[in-house]
Amino acid sequence: MKRMLVTGGAGFIGSNFIQYILDNQQDVVLLVNLDLLTYAGNLENLKTVESDPRYVFVHGDVRDRDLVRDLFGRYDFDTVVHFAAESHVDRSIVEPEIFLTTNIIGTQTLLDAAKAHWKIHPEDKYSRAFRPGVKYLQVSTDEVYGALGRTGMFTEDTPLSPNSPYSASKAGADLMVRAYHETYGLPVNITRCSNNYGPYQFPEKLIPLIIHNALKEKPLPVYGDGMQIRDWLHVKDHCSAITTVLEKGGVGEVYNIGGNNERANLEIVRLILKELGKPESLITHVKDRPGHDRRYAIDNTKITAELGWKPAYTFGRGMAETIRWYLENPEWVEHVTSGAYQTYYQKMYGNR
Ligand code: NAD
Ligand code: TYD
Repeated sequence: MKRMLVTGGAGFIGSNFIQYILDNQQDVVLLVNLDLLTYAGNLENLKTVESDPRYVFVHGDVRDRDLVRDLFGRYDFDTVVHFAAESHVDRSIVEPEIFLTTNIIGTQTLLDAAKAHWKIHPEDKYSRAFRPGVKYLQVSTDEVYGALGRTGMFTEDTPLSPNSPYSASKAGADLMVRAYHETYGLPVNITRCSNNYGPYQFPEKLIPLIIHNALKEKPLPVYGDGMQIRDWLHVKDHCSAITTVLEKGGVGEVYNIGGNNERANLEIVRLILKELGKPESLITHVKDRPGHDRRYAIDNTKITAELGWKPAYTFGRGMAETIRWYLENPEWVEHVTSGAYQTYYQKMYGNR
């Protein structure tokens, strides 16, 4: 019987995760979603779970120490899955500070609350008698490893070498999680996943932005030469991987998550155009992103060999389903792209 705190559950991956858990994990008897509802948080993502008696939504900030402590006291969580973050590289280049407060201080606030509520002592670490039945899982990213050249892959032993304010803030948070494990013996896992795609992704990220623009026959902004490589994973496969790590991950261990699916950005854009029957003349090369990481690729040997996880989606099926989801949910797209999104788009792409 698990009592789970999920942070950032109104965002893209968090909302998919909540649906996944409530659909598949009957041993989760309580799931509290703590989310500030920033521009990226959207309760429409959670319509299918709203009436589930195990689900509770709390509107609040992971940096709010009193609130986080009170929630632990009220709900007695044994599991924390921390998604809440500022997550977009381009925004971090324009406005880095909120990335530090949300991503690093937010993480440390949760770590403190978990440590206090679970009565963790440094002796636990020395005796390796970690508190049984409790776990804090930090949802991190492969971007903390920096960029790869043409060859090689990120393993869990690759040194952290983040290049953007976003990835630097995620690396900082990972190091705090590591420190709370090493110093106090807090039972933690860190997962580092590659780029996700799927339903409910906000159209500031490549795949939903390109689908949205292509449907409207607007120019498709491709940064630089478009030959940057990302290692794409369907969001539901990320959710199943996190669940596997929660259940079987060794205390204090880091797990990379990826599905061996490297694609150049231009390849993705062309695939979307083909699926939608739109012309390649929409492709517009624009000024490159500063500090743009050239290539990411995940070596997933540890999670596949040690924990037995594997992805369920092929890229073909995942992309076809994702594109169909955006076509079948025009109201969702309409709601998230009205208002502030227009201002954002003009600021980021207006003079590019
Ligand atoms: P997202 O931007 O879609 O969602 C972030 C959520 O966090 C939103 O609901 C937002 O309201 C909430 N939030 C932001 N600040 C908050 C605060 N101070 N207190 C409470 N809630 C707050 O992000 P996402 O793409 O779903 O990513 C989720 C996590 O997964 C992040 O930690 C991200 O670094 C990590 N990640 C993302 C990807 C990806 O491809 N999107 C890949 C690997 C790891
Ligand atoms: P993004 O979805 O922002 O994820 P991340 O930067 O975290 O990998 O971008 C994915 C890739 O697509 C990245 O190489 C930047 C590129 N990109 C574009 O070429 N044009 C765009 O409008 C966006 C948003 C991204």
